[in-house]
Amino acid sequence: MKEAVIVAYGRSPSCKAKKGAYATHNMNAIDYTAQVVNGTLKKIPQLKPEMIDDFIFGTAATMNTFAMNSGRNVEHRAELPDSVPSMTINRYCSTGLQAMSLAANYIKTGEMDVVMVCGAEDMTNSFGPLDLTYANKWIMENRIDSLTPMGVTAENVAKRYGISRQAMDELAVASHKNASKAQHEGFFKDSIIPVELDDGSYVTEDEGIRPDTNLDSLALLKPCFDEHGSVTAGNSSQMTDAAACAIIMSSEKADELGIKPIAKFVGFSIAGCHPDEMGIGPVYAVPKLMQRLGLDINKMDVVELNEAFAAQAEYCARELKIPREKLNPWGGAIALGHPQGATGIVLSIKAMDYLKRTGGKYALITMCIGGGMGAAGVLEMC
Ligand SMILES: CC(C)(COP(=O)(O)OP(=O)(O)OC[C@H]1O[C@@H](n2cnc3c(N)ncnc32)[C@H](O)[C@@H]1OP(=O)(O)O)[C@@H](O)C(=O)NCCC(=O)NCCS
Repeated sequence: MKEAVIVAYGRSPSCKAKKGAYATHNMNAIDYTAQVVNGTLKKIPQLKPEMIDDFIFGTAATMNTFAMNSGRNVEHRAELPDSVPSMTINRYCSTGLQAMSLAANYIKTGEMDVVMVCGAEDMTNSFGPLDLTYANKWIMENRIDSLTPMGVTAENVAKRYGISRQAMDELAVASHKNASKAQHEGFFKDSIIPVELDDGSYVTEDEGIRPDTNLDSLALLKPCFDEHGSVTAGNSSQMTDAAACAIIMSSEKADELGIKPIAKFVGFSIAGCHPDEMGIGPVYAVPKLMQRLGLDINKMDVVELNEAFAAQAEYCARELKIPREKLNPWGGAIALGHPQGATGIVLSIKAMDYLKRTGGKYALITMCIGGGMGAAGVLEMC
């Protein structure tokens, strides 16, 4: 088996869905995604775009802007050569990580030498209540749990596993505090590719971080999904528009092109769980991966556990015994948003940038997945 190494990456600033910079400037999501593709390619000029064997694009809402094989439209908008093929994949919240795993496997088996992965989500135009016009009758009658709204799954996790509102709000405060510190120190600038808006101005920073978040103001927020529940706008991931990219190649190809590898894609696992408590997915996916790789969670130098909701993130952190100082040290999706198709790549980028600065070796990336699944991936710094 060959070794799959990540050699370049970049991401757009995360902008608030419907009210952020992309939405208010009428930016089509394919436009900012293509800017991230080109910004990432620019980081390794030794790689000519025609050397890319495949372009794997991922998005969770394969509709509207990103309908059909929209990866091909992203490529065309980025003006990659027609000879570079593309596919579009979807495994909801883990889509970006899944794309990286697919790319790594193509490379490890020798089928391809260079794969570019890209994930994006246009939550402004493609996220909301399901249109039941085409809903499957059998599912509606027999497995309605398959369609449980995400916020309700978080309420279920909170109630079933005793995660208090206080614990959720504490995790939310930590998310904003850590993200705010990282932004202030300029850590996110390492990977943010400024996006040019339609008026020629640039968006350069993530928009969702609220540095003044505190337990008192969070306690005032009303539950969003169940009036007697505890999941609020303050302890849920934000709805965000964003895109992220990574380039993965064999270590031989990197050597040949004189490109310094950043990290190895070591392994990936996926596991299923009950859809109405989808948030607990990492509790199944992480041990499966650790066992297969012969690793232990204590060997991880950083853990990026997606904060779809504080309820599930808190439960998973407790069950997996993740040391708190290693958990989302630069904040998570409660502060930075969860653009589902991009999230797996965004979390990987955050972990690699963190390890570049701190000198650690292993990163664990994990997330729960709508429909009832969990995914996990391990990266090892080169
Ligand atoms: C929970 C949810 C419905 C809230 O939507 P929203 O009301 O549009 O959320 P907003 O971020 O605009 O916050 C609403 C208000 O809550 C308050 N608020 C939010 N975060 C806050 C914080 N950290 N501190 C204080 N107040 C806060 C503010 O008053 C805010 O209004 P403002 O932005 O005008 O100041 C939405 O974020 C959501 O659905 N999230 C989950 C997305 C999802 O399911 N993803 C897939 C997961 S698997």
